Amino acid sequence: MVSPDLSVAVGSVRLKNPVMTASGTFGYGLEFLPFLDLSELGGLVTKGLSPKPRRGNPPERIVETPAGMLNAIGLQNVGVDAFIAEKLPRLAPYDTAVVANVFGETEAEYVEVLEKLDAAQGVAAVELNVSCPNVEAGGMIFGNDPKALARVTRACRRATRLPLWVKLSPNVTDIRETARAAEAEGADAISLVNTFVGMAVNVDKKRPVLANGSGGLSGPAIRPLAVWLTWQVRRAVKIPIVGMGGIMTGRDAVEFLLAGASAVQVGTANFVTPRAAIDVIDGLKTWLSERGIPSAAEITGTLRAAEAASVPV
Ligand SMILES: Cc1cc2nc3c(=O)[nH]c(=O)nc-3n(C[C@H](O)[C@H](O)[C@H](O)COP(=O)(O)O)c2cc1C
Repeated sequence: MVSPDLSVAVGSVRLKNPVMTASGTFGYGLEFLPFLDLSELGGLVTKGLSPKPRRGNPPERIVETPAGMLNAIGLQNVGVDAFIAEKLPRLAPYDTAVVANVFGETEAEYVEVLEKLDAAQGVAAVELNVSCPNVEAGGMIFGNDPKALARVTRACRRATRLPLWVKLSPNVTDIRETARAAEAEGADAISLVNTFVGMAVNVDKKRPVLANGSGGLSGPAIRPLAVWLTWQVRRAVKIPIVGMGGIMTGRDAVEFLLAGASAVQVGTANFVTPRAAIDVIDGLKTWLSERGIPSAAEITGTLRAAEAASVPV
């Protein structure tokens, strides 16, 4: 059996393997040191960073659902300054790509965080979370409107020399429009997808389970939706895609790679077992070697579906 070459590139970002951990499900990486060697990961994506620390929403913030979970954490984080001073230096010894996930309530907030990260050492790329309400536009979600997405991407592109990944929301009518808007304004890659909006109800109390009311659905329940969106975006833009949504095993990761992703992220699975991403790496390696495929990079976008319907049935 050949030992496959797992290394891939997402634009200018080289990863030792295509498996990263997803934002908000892996803290700042450091919390997972008791469970795994961070150097084994292709990369890790931090919890979303804002200019100031945020406490997030009150509980309940998480609820398990069939084949997934709903969360409304409310973007709790330590703030970009504490991340740069206290977290980033402690990640330096590990040979893995650190991607900083960023959000803001205004364009200026995104820019402020990006300028600070640009001046720091040890960030491989930034990933914009555009699933955040734009307070200047009356709470409209940045990522739900191609024009708003274009504006924030343009401002962020000017604010940093770091590779810029734009993470798309699936809560749109046609994800190809937001993907094209990000590409046109200089994004280096598209990450997809963020969570799907949902709600769980406590029928005894006649109240939503989550204090926030609604939450974001993630986990295996969303995988077919996310694979489909990956395939749609693959045919709409030329820039690389980082795919995610319900990846639990190496085979799940292969689905995204075949559908056009150059790399993947593992999120909710980390709540099931903190070593989930390592299991995905091992599973991917086995899948490739059993088939005598020499490298992970070569399977990207090789789905045999040129003739497949582009409209869901
Ligand atoms: C508890 C929780 C917190 C999350 N926080 C963030 C975040 O801060 N920024 C972000 O871009 N995505 C965030 N996400 C979305 C994930 O990064 C990922 O896009 C989504 O969960 C789908 O992948 P999965 O099904 O493997 O979890 C969060 C997801 C969960 C479950």
